Amino acid sequence: MKQIICLEPGKFEQREVTRPVAEPGKVILKVKRIGICGTDLHAFEGTQPFFTYPRVLGHELACEIAEGQGPEINFKAGHPVTFIPYFPCNNCIACRNGKPNCCTKIQGAGVHIDGGMTEFIQVPAYSLIDGEGLTSDELAMVEPMAIGAHAVRITEIQKDEYVLIIGAGPIGLGVMAFAKVNGARVIAMDVNNTRLEFAQKYFGVDHLINALENPVEQIAKITGNEMVTAVIDATGNKRAIEGSLEFLAHGGRITLVGIQKESFCFSHPEFHKRETTLRSSRNATREDFNQVVTNIRNGNVNVSALISHRITLHSVPDQFPLLLDPQKGVIKAIIELD
Ligand SMILES: NC(=O)c1ccc[n+]([C@@H]2O[C@H](COP(=O)([O-])OP(=O)(O)OC[C@H]3O[C@@H](n4cnc5c(N)ncnc54)[C@H](O)[C@@H]3O)[C@@H](O)[C@H]2O)c1
Ligand SMILES: [Zn+2]
Ligand SMILES: [Zn+2]
Repeated sequence: MKQIICLEPGKFEQREVTRPVAEPGKVILKVKRIGICGTDLHAFEGTQPFFTYPRVLGHELACEIAEGQGPEINFKAGHPVTFIPYFPCNNCIACRNGKPNCCTKIQGAGVHIDGGMTEFIQVPAYSLIDGEGLTSDELAMVEPMAIGAHAVRITEIQKDEYVLIIGAGPIGLGVMAFAKVNGARVIAMDVNNTRLEFAQKYFGVDHLINALENPVEQIAKITGNEMVTAVIDATGNKRAIEGSLEFLAHGGRITLVGIQKESFCFSHPEFHKRETTLRSSRNATREDFNQVVTNIRNGNVNVSALISHRITLHSVPDQFPLLLDPQKGVIKAIIELD
């Protein structure tokens, strides 16, 4: 079978490898689509910390069952599935407390272990998610959308509350989609007007704010001077994170989905007087994946619009570097297999 391997930063190579054979408790999946995300782009650029090479990238997969037997495998060959691409140890304190998404020894497909840029992949049967009723394009969007669904769930976003979501990239759009599913009044903020308009057109957000145009005054106006009761950062931008507190109502909460490498700083009196709740949101759990599949299946969330660019597996060495060009206006690129 064919596989694309990232040998070192800036270098992909196609190679021919033996197709995996199912081990007990594992299943072989035929890969149909691979969504490309920031993690893959940074790994290719060499800017992903703690990344080791060579590595097969890709963790946003649409697949179908190829082979696998055992009591835990409920699907027949050809059944559409995706899988939770972060494998927990099931033993550490986070796993024991029902938080496998932040396991201390988590193994991410396409990050710590080889991932999905391959024709067939072997995964643990317990990681499978039923994709019945979803197209391959939709199934490849489940993982990035689950990141947003998780952030919304743990932030306990309520009907009618004002939520500010900063960053309208694929991750922020997922947060917006699920904040709307919860019935919140969603304010989308970015510095890119094209992305803001996209958020309104496809994810029905209520208000758009360009972060460069007096955002505090704009939010005060929208909320009748009360400000928002929740801010979710999906930029991974230090300045955006540090600025988020000024938009927050007293008693409000801030959730950081975006990630950056530096420390960040809040004014302690400003943080204190609001009795601010601050938390991060990492990965997603089975509950989030299932919520995403259900909402795509019943038409509440339209994810196909996210796909702006398509390439084939064998064209990855030539075409992948072009996706890094900001002029291309990529929202989500996917790799198609037959
Ligand atoms: N929580 C998780 O497990 C998880 C998973 C995947 C990705 N992420 C992180 O989520 C973040 C977003 O990912 P993405 O793929 O959507 O990225 P992206 O780069 O496509 O989108 C980020 C958006 O933020 C906007 N932005 C940047 N600085 C801003 C500022 N100061 N004010 C307002 N808007 C600003 C950009 O214009 C862009 O539209 C990244 O930090 C990524 O590492 C987290
Ligand atoms: Zn991703
Ligand atoms: Zn663990």
